[in-house]
Amino acid sequence: MHLEMALCIKRVSLYMARLIIVTGPTGAGKTTYSLSIAKEIGAIRFSIDPWMQILFSNDMTSLDYSWMIERVNRCYVQIWQVSEQVLELNGNVVLDLGFTTKEQRDHFTDLAKGLSIDSEIHYLNAPKETRKKRVEKRNLEKDPSVYSFEVTDFMFNFMEPKYEIPGQQELENGRTVNA
Ligand SMILES: Nc1ncnc2c1ncn2[C@@H]1O[C@H](COP(=O)(O)OP(=O)(O)O)[C@@H](O)[C@H]1O
Ligand SMILES: [Mg+2]
Repeated sequence: MHLEMALCIKRVSLYMARLIIVTGPTGAGKTTYSLSIAKEIGAIRFSIDPWMQILFSNDMTSLDYSWMIERVNRCYVQIWQVSEQVLELNGNVVLDLGFTTKEQRDHFTDLAKGLSIDSEIHYLNAPKETRKKRVEKRNLEKDPSVYSFEVTDFMFNFMEPKYEIPGQQELENGRTVNA
């Protein structure tokens, strides 16, 4: 075998697709960061907001957290089915799926392990007051390209104690981004 070909095969086999799990509390900048890192590394990005808006917003009659979560979980199943195919083709994937709880993050980390991929958790962090201001601004801007939901003060405060900050162990293969 030519040396050049052997080197090429080695390079291909050494390359591992990346799965980036973007997490952080409301308004920390997850979607903004996901867009930029996906562009930087060349990745397929899945953000939960457009999935929920396009699939379910017309069916939403009132604000019901368990109704939402049930549908978010259905999206997770389908998003993973596509992500898995991309990763198996050695493509990078960025997941911007809320990831409020460790359990949700662990679920995707375990799925990635099944493909022998060590997922990376990128934790977006910003002070509460900064995030609140950002959400107020985002509510006014209503940028149609990102399909963000309007987040009222009530919703912001409701979600705040639900967010589980990743511990050191979760971040071993990841990073904290002070956005
Ligand atoms: N680093 C940053 N500095 C200032 N504004 C930001 C930053 N990151 C995001 N934003 C703005 O703050 C708002 C919330 O960001 P977004 O990415 O939608 O947060 P999340 O997805 O975590 O809720 C958006 O209007 C966005 O343009
Ligand atoms: Mg977002």
